[in-house]
Amino acid sequence: MTEGRLHVFDDPAGAVAQLLAAEARRGGAIVLTGGSTPERAYELAARLEPDWSRAQVFWGDERCVPPDDGRSNFGLAKRALLDRLAALPDVHRIRGELAPAAAAAEYEAELGEATPDLLLLGLGPDGHVASLFPGSPQLAERARLVTHGPAGLEPFVERVTLTLPALLTARRIVVLVAGAGKAEAVERSFRGPVDEEVPASLLRRGEAPLDVYLDPAAATGAASAN
Ligand code: 6PG
Repeated sequence: MTEGRLHVFDDPAGAVAQLLAAEARRGGAIVLTGGSTPERAYELAARLEPDWSRAQVFWGDERCVPPDDGRSNFGLAKRALLDRLAALPDVHRIRGELAPAAAAAEYEAELGEATPDLLLLGLGPDGHVASLFPGSPQLAERARLVTHGPAGLEPFVERVTLTLPALLTARRIVVLVAGAGKAEAVERSFRGPVDEEVPASLLRRGEAPLDVYLDPAAATGAASAN
């Protein structure tokens, strides 16, 4: 078991950008998250370290839409990070334009034996991480590394996602959270009991360091320390 360490910053994206840039310099396997929160972290990371040629980039989940769709997690990283780099990493994209089962099977094969050195996750207001939503069969999946299914929150499009066992293979997990709307999810995920109803709390079943970078608004529900 590991306990989530909370790190409160006025600008948590800046702190996470430093971690991403350092991991890129090391040439690690970096798993990116989707959603809106990481955009600034990606932009800052590209400025801090423009050479990602030694790194490999994966995604924790993807919406089943084409890469140029505004809801694409790859599309977000392309705009905010990849297009701003001087040297690209090895990019392992989940092909959201395929049928969900085909995209999941292809990505699981591409993931192979890769172990994430840094897994970046966001946190949903319901405590979901990646596209593992409370009470979903995808959250319960224990045999596969990649699965697919419906979204439990907007955008309501089919998702391809790493499973909990896959997330727990990471050597380091970093969660980036911002805004008062996430305060209850932070409290339930990292200060409450480990609970199947709160997917992010299950990250504490792993052994890897689990660090939560959040702003004061997201930290209002939890005793926290830098
Ligand atoms: C996704 C993400 C998802 C996201 C959270 C938080 O595909 O949407 O992987 O897990 O990180 O929903 O999203 P926001 O950063 O937009 O609040």
